[in-house]
Amino acid sequence: MSILKTLPERLLLGPGPSNAHPAVLEAMSRPLIGHLDPEFLALLDRVKDGLRSVFATTNGMTLPISATGSAGMETVLVNLLEPGEAVVIGVNGVFGGRMAEVARRAGADVTTVDATWGTRLDASEVAEAIALVRPKVVAFVHAETSTGVCQPVEEISSAAREADAMIVLDCVTSLAGLPVELDRWGIDAAYSGTQKCLSCSPGLSPVSFSERAVEAVRNRRTPVQSWFLDLSLLAGYYGGEKRVYHHTAPITATYGLAAGLDRVLDEGLEARFVRHAEAAARLIEGLEPLGFTPLVDEADRLPMLTSVNLPKQVRTIGEAAVRGRLLDEFGIEVGAGLGPLAGEIWRIGLMGENARPEPVDRLLEALHKILG
Ligand SMILES: Cc1ncc(COP(=O)(O)O)c(C=O)c1O
Repeated sequence: MSILKTLPERLLLGPGPSNAHPAVLEAMSRPLIGHLDPEFLALLDRVKDGLRSVFATTNGMTLPISATGSAGMETVLVNLLEPGEAVVIGVNGVFGGRMAEVARRAGADVTTVDATWGTRLDASEVAEAIALVRPKVVAFVHAETSTGVCQPVEEISSAAREADAMIVLDCVTSLAGLPVELDRWGIDAAYSGTQKCLSCSPGLSPVSFSERAVEAVRNRRTPVQSWFLDLSLLAGYYGGEKRVYHHTAPITATYGLAAGLDRVLDEGLEARFVRHAEAAARLIEGLEPLGFTPLVDEADRLPMLTSVNLPKQVRTIGEAAVRGRLLDEFGIEVGAGLGPLAGEIWRIGLMGENARPEPVDRLLEALHKILG
């Protein structure tokens, strides 16, 4: 108990989680009610509506999966893919790689199209792979959090559509920080997380399936190997007229998501996107005099996650030591590089509520103090 009382306040400027808004934390302290209580089911319906708004979709099958973004990824892939079916997956960072691994474990025949970490996928290479493999599914990451690269969606999605493949999009980091338009882009299935630009706690993964994707799941030859993530079973609780028990939905996390969605929609998506872009510009402008340089070309940069090459001074002190001082002395978390970029870059997240001038200025001030 005492450890909970002494937990520090942190400014979370890493790749996620971001700080939850006080209204989200307040909502999460409301009394528990049952997961089949009509009041809770009404709240869940509101959450589903809110998710449809942020995903810009009318998909009926839009719901929060009861686990983090990786479970959303797994839900989408294990429902859409059967053993032996072909899938093309773009890999230019950790999360494209994770999708490929999940698809392999589902028994799919996986073709990856790789790009150097820190660059976008080459849409023409993806189109070539699609033409060659004629996959059932084409999957890629919209906002690659391991590198800070934004992948343009329309070129790849039109190549997939021409081959009549279904399109899966990872929106874990992009949702509510960058335009995500499932219906306009013709995305068949997408997933996200609550702990990034939605500024809620980790623990739920919003997913959305088009009618065509739902139909594909309905027409499977084999049962989905995951009982927990089988969409046709989940539909009994999340979708049907009569709601039946599937698993005990995480009540408190759902309250938080409801409050988080209210904030996003009250602010307005457009205003939120502008806020993210302005915060990232302020950060880069402030970091450059300290010797940090952006890893990613300007045209491909994410607003909510900036990856920067480290200046000599930080390397001399030791990048982990500088991050340690930021955390210990200033209460600020930033993210390290992953995979080939470990030790080379930092990943600085300005997500959701933190995409504002004050967090940027707090970080810059702390860095000036540490680096002199
Ligand atoms: C792009 C992307 N996809 C998937 C995930 C996995 O989400 P989680 O860590 O919530 O399971 C993350 C998490 O950082 C991510 O950034």
